[in-house]
Amino acid sequence: MSILVTGGAGYIGSHTCVELLNAGYDIIVLDNFCNSNKEVLKRIKTITNKDFGFYEADVRDKKALDEIFAKEKIEAVIHFAALKAVGESCQKPLEYYENNVSGTVTLCEAMRDAGCKKIVFSSSATVYGMDNKVPFKEDMPVGGTTNPYGTTKYFIERILADVQAADSEWSVTLLRYFNPIGAHSSGMIGENPNGIPNNLMPYVAQVAVGRLECLNVFGDDYDTPDGTGVRDYIHVVDLAIGHVLAVEKALKETGVNVYNLGTGIGYSVLDLVKAFEKASGVKINYKIAPRRDGDIAVCYADASKAKNELGWTAKKNLDDMCADTWRWQRNNPNGY
Ligand code: NAD
Ligand code: WQD
Repeated sequence: MSILVTGGAGYIGSHTCVELLNAGYDIIVLDNFCNSNKEVLKRIKTITNKDFGFYEADVRDKKALDEIFAKEKIEAVIHFAALKAVGESCQKPLEYYENNVSGTVTLCEAMRDAGCKKIVFSSSATVYGMDNKVPFKEDMPVGGTTNPYGTTKYFIERILADVQAADSEWSVTLLRYFNPIGAHSSGMIGENPNGIPNNLMPYVAQVAVGRLECLNVFGDDYDTPDGTGVRDYIHVVDLAIGHVLAVEKALKETGVNVYNLGTGIGYSVLDLVKAFEKASGVKINYKIAPRRDGDIAVCYADASKAKNELGWTAKKNLDDMCADTWRWQRNNPNGY
């Protein structure tokens, strides 16, 4: 029996494939490469010294999915495949709803038709919106999202909960990630954004390696210790291990489970810049710029539920996250 990993060639998916293979699972990767590179599959094999099945396919393609489910023995799906750029989602909302929401509906239809009813879904801390107080807990109200990308995550959470409510054989796990950064310690796989990065860590890493000139720090007048935005940065390998534990539980149970995956610690933009300078020995050129629309001042998790129910806690600290990002970026200055 295998775990199907949609979006398994992407940033978080590739690290999760490594941890699933290391834990002894058989996996099948499905990806359409709209935001990833085939080279990553070779590197996962090199890191783990294990082989796995792979399909170049789209989660919106029901026929392709039916064929995969007919051919392979799939007992659960970890569903990463999605578009994820917040700014782009405001320009292209229909593309985001189509890819993320319709793609998930089509995937669930194929799963139902094949009798495979266990799904672990990549949700996001963005579903907590603007109105909750930190630390964010799973039972807080969700919605109030500030962009179409975030709204796709909120809608999909509701859709999956409805699917489970209608058929109690389903197991639905909603994992709300905080801010994943870092890379595998081998330096062979990591985050490889197309074009100019939207997120802080890849931007900092590209300044360090000389691909970008100067970081814009979006606002220094927030109500935080140094005035810059505070986030719960989590090492992508810790996040990947969270998926292994979540799928292990899902294989044994039915129902809906929601977990925050974060460290519970908030760092500011300038904390991260300083930690990256220490890890890399490179001075990061930055300037203060206006606040970015839709940003909140502070976001961090209460991660106690994942600890109590999955036995999961984040093990790696900000220095590890910076050192591993730097190794990946230095070894692969232009990505894959
Ligand atoms: P990513 O873009 O690196 O990976 C997504 C993968 O899905 C890519 O390989 C892409 O080619 C593939 N894909 C997209 N649409 C597809 C489709 N229709 N059919 C098949 N494959 C498709 O992104 P990531 O950072 O690894 O994120 C993985 C998941 O985690 C996404 O669902 C994302 O929304 C969610 N998430 C990411 C973050 C983050 O900060 N990176 C935070 C919270 C949640
Ligand atoms: C972090 C901090 C910025 C870039 C996003 C999505 C969220 C989730 C994770 C998917 C903030 C500041 C950033 C820059 C900066 N993704 N910043 N200069 O916005 O917390 O979360 O990624 O689900 O949905 O919104 O992450 O890395 O963009 O920003 O000053 O060039 O860095 O203002 O305080 P964010 P981020």
